[in-house]
Amino acid sequence: TTNHRIALIPGDGIGAEVLPPARQVLDVLGHRHGFSLSYTSYDWSCERYLREGAMMPADGLDQLRDKDAILLGAVGYPGVPDHVSLWGLLIPIRRSFRQYVNLRPIRVFEGVDSPVRGARPGAVDMVVVRENAEGEYSAIGGRLNQGTAEELAVQEAVFTRAGVTRIADYAFSLAARRRGRLTSATKSNGIIHTMPFWDELIAERAAGHPGVTWDQELIDALAAKFVLDPARFDVVVASNLFGDILSDLAAAVAGSIGIAPSANLNPERDFPSMFEPVHGSAPDIAGKGIANPLGAIWSAAMMLDHLGHPAAAKDITDAIASILAKSDTRTRDLGGTATTAEFTDRLIELL
Ligand code: NAD
Ligand code: IPM
Ligand code: MN
Repeated sequence: TTNHRIALIPGDGIGAEVLPPARQVLDVLGHRHGFSLSYTSYDWSCERYLREGAMMPADGLDQLRDKDAILLGAVGYPGVPDHVSLWGLLIPIRRSFRQYVNLRPIRVFEGVDSPVRGARPGAVDMVVVRENAEGEYSAIGGRLNQGTAEELAVQEAVFTRAGVTRIADYAFSLAARRRGRLTSATKSNGIIHTMPFWDELIAERAAGHPGVTWDQELIDALAAKFVLDPARFDVVVASNLFGDILSDLAAAVAGSIGIAPSANLNPERDFPSMFEPVHGSAPDIAGKGIANPLGAIWSAAMMLDHLGHPAAAKDITDAIASILAKSDTRTRDLGGTATTAEFTDRLIELL
């Protein structure tokens, strides 16, 4: 049987509570579909930072390099500034391993109450394709005259032809395999260098994908349309920051940010890809055992898909659809009373 070497990085807060359920689910599927997974766990976290002064060891990336995939919980916790913890672990992994595609699917499942009236189950099924390696997330810039009346901060956004072209091509190809619709989100009326550049490159790449109908929207108006008419969207491509914001918004439209998964993909496969829920460490509920594990479990399904086990991945998404449609067992974010462990047990039964 094929064995896949998986790096597990639970990280902080509920990250450590949602990874064990994902692993339980993965192991059931390995047995059924004839593959095995071997895990190496890493304690890289804010706790480690406070103990040792670094989120991960100096050779941390080297330890991950030979793995087939990385499954991550969440990074960041009060006590360590977010820019320190995230730039010490999550962001270096995404960048060093050229995980330039961040795929974030959103579905309104049967049995889930969306806060949005028009978001009927089954009708909303979209994917945010977030550029994951450049854009607004940049270390270029600085602060001057700290503490004075002349204080200022500059933060540069970097968009390259190669970077925008590859994410555009990925998004067009994905749209071609789905319902053939692509929306590109920019803010070219206010941000006058990078965003018009993005628009031009999207239009340029569209020529190579004649089967896809596409349009571009200003991000502010698009945010409103996500709420007013989410069913109209198929694939939405956006820069690093805009894709980040749109994916939390879309997840909330789908009923809870606790369900939303993500895949940080290195399409060339010269480095491992990383799979993680969209949500963070949720300090407000951490330690209570009540986090929704579905974001992590769905991310594990995306990992199996990436590793070449689409049937196993579908078993997971089918089980997610079925527990939400047919059972009252659900975590608090979805209006239930189940703990993470109770919910996971029920899901395993359904599997
Ligand atoms: P968050 O996603 O952690 O939480 C936002 C809200 O959603 C909270 O009310 C939380 O209780 C709820 N929530 C999130 N996940 C849930 C789940 N699985 N089940 C039930 N409820 C859930 O966002 P935040 O509070 O802005 O960030 C907390 C920390 O996490 C920060 O340090 C932030 O930088 C970090 N963060 C990390 C990642 C990541 O590792 N990829 C992503 C987002 C935020
Ligand atoms: C996410 C998170 C991260 C991001 C933060 C924690 C740096 O919000 O994965 O969506 O913005 O990429
Ligand atoms: Mn985010």
